[in-house]
Amino acid sequence: MIEFLLHNEKITLTDIDPNTTVLQFLRVHKKLTGTKEGCASGDCGACTICLVELDENNQLRYKTVNACITLVSALQGKQLISIEALKQSQLHSSQQAMVDNDGSQCGFCTPGFVMSLFGLQKNHDHFNRHQTHQALAGNLCRCTGYRAIENAAKQMFEQPIVDHFDPLEESIQQQLAQINLNTQRDSAMLALNDNYCHLPNDSDTLAHLLINNPQSTLIAGGTDLSLAITQHNTRFSQLIALSNVKELHQYTISDHQIEIGAALSLTKCQKIFQQTIPEFAALLDRFASLQIRNQGSIGGNIANASPIGDTPPALIALGASLILRRGDSRRSVKVEDFFVDYRKTVLESSEFIEKILIPIPTQPYLFKIYKVSKRLDDDISALSAACLLSLENEKVTKICLAFGGMAAIAKRAYHTEKALENQHWGLAAVKSAQPALEQDFTPLSDFRASSQYRMQVAKNVLHKLLIETPQVTDKSDELTAKTRISDYV
Ligand SMILES: Cc1cc2nc3c(=O)[nH]c(=O)nc-3n(C[C@H](O)[C@H](O)[C@H](O)COP(=O)(O)OP(=O)(O)OC[C@H]3O[C@@H](n4cnc5c(N)ncnc54)[C@H](O)[C@@H]3O)c2cc1C
Ligand code: FES
Ligand code: FES
Repeated sequence: MIEFLLHNEKITLTDIDPNTTVLQFLRVHKKLTGTKEGCASGDCGACTICLVELDENNQLRYKTVNACITLVSALQGKQLISIEALKQSQLHSSQQAMVDNDGSQCGFCTPGFVMSLFGLQKNHDHFNRHQTHQALAGNLCRCTGYRAIENAAKQMFEQPIVDHFDPLEESIQQQLAQINLNTQRDSAMLALNDNYCHLPNDSDTLAHLLINNPQSTLIAGGTDLSLAITQHNTRFSQLIALSNVKELHQYTISDHQIEIGAALSLTKCQKIFQQTIPEFAALLDRFASLQIRNQGSIGGNIANASPIGDTPPALIALGASLILRRGDSRRSVKVEDFFVDYRKTVLESSEFIEKILIPIPTQPYLFKIYKVSKRLDDDISALSAACLLSLENEKVTKICLAFGGMAAIAKRAYHTEKALENQHWGLAAVKSAQPALEQDFTPLSDFRASSQYRMQVAKNVLHKLLIETPQVTDKSDELTAKTRISDYV
């Protein structure tokens, strides 16, 4: 059984297939058809809904997510707000602003845009262009334009930001707290026929469930896993959801290290990195869309072991490690040693990622992350690179260079690092190290980029790194057509 609020109504679900998406639940089970299906793969934002949850201070946190790739288990202990709940006797201010500014478009994309504006309004108290772009980047429309919608966002913040949700917040907080209390006593579970999903509350229960059911599939945010359901018609018969495992959502920050529970959402990770490793936070602005970052986890990004996942190169360059747990045993593995081959990791049967330990660079250093993709927002990398560089008197004392999209796994460019170590950090060193990248990698050609393009951009990344190193003098070069590509990295 799982419990949640649909708008203000308490819902108890027991016999539902755990492979059901929130979109199917709304449209098919509840006949709430305002939320649309565009792509069913998290790309277009037509299905955007808002999930409201209690944060660590018991305050309500509104997060927009893609209903098409969020499974019903994710609703446990939350309030689900769909487009139908916005209008009461009058349009909600986010809807009225869309009407007043001619922002309303076709019936497919508009509900999603409105929900993203609603989420923006609930999370901020004044208009900010960057935040608006971030909120809307996961809502795609190629037919009209975004200017009118941006104007709607501006108007929305000019009006008093009190709506019919605000007076109910205290009651919603209490109801969600009560639901959470119920599930602490009796952990939640969904089952229909032979398909079930356990929702353990803590890491010990999770560890033992996995030992007893080694064939189970873990689901954190589901932003990778659910695509198997919506795109390939896979049905998972034994799921274990990480959404309630409290330790996996905790984090601590000390002077030199961040410890992050594996199921922490990328949005929450971004907030942590803003205070500690701002370059990492900036990368996450370009990770998928806000809807995906609100739902997807850092542990899922690592465990998925995609060669073009965005966090592994950054984690490798920072020297991060993972705490892997199997039953009562734990071991520590460096992120750079975690990936074995294409989509293969060192994870053993019944083992899971419990925590990620990220050292905060302390000595003077330069940390840069470059993501190269066809679109700025909501796009997966063709190639990515992360570099942690330490210099003393313009000499390279330490360099850690990690690439994604250049091999079957995210990995370090050891030959290139070696070619740069102890060298004067300047154009000559970069030029002599660039060929070493060909020893490190033989990239593939695919629909994202050709092998040749990937190699050229990787070389340009080194040059860009030099250009972006403050106080280094020897970085001039006549820009050739090839090096100019680095401007687009
Ligand atoms: C539209 C779209 C855009 C995307 N854009 C990007 C992008 O720009 N950059 C990028 O890197 N990725 C992107 N992704 C991929 C995805 O969002 C990320 O990989 C995300 O971090 C996955 O996290 P999750 O919690 O949703 O993982 P899930 O889907 O829940 O799980 C992924 C895999 O990891 C396993 N797993 C999860 N947690 C654990 C754990 N703690 N221990 C062991 N195994 C575990 C699951 O069993 C599953 O095999 C995108 C996805 C979509 C749909
Ligand atoms: S339907 Fe396109 S993101 Fe969900
Ligand atoms: S998708 Fe709705 S107007 Fe373009």
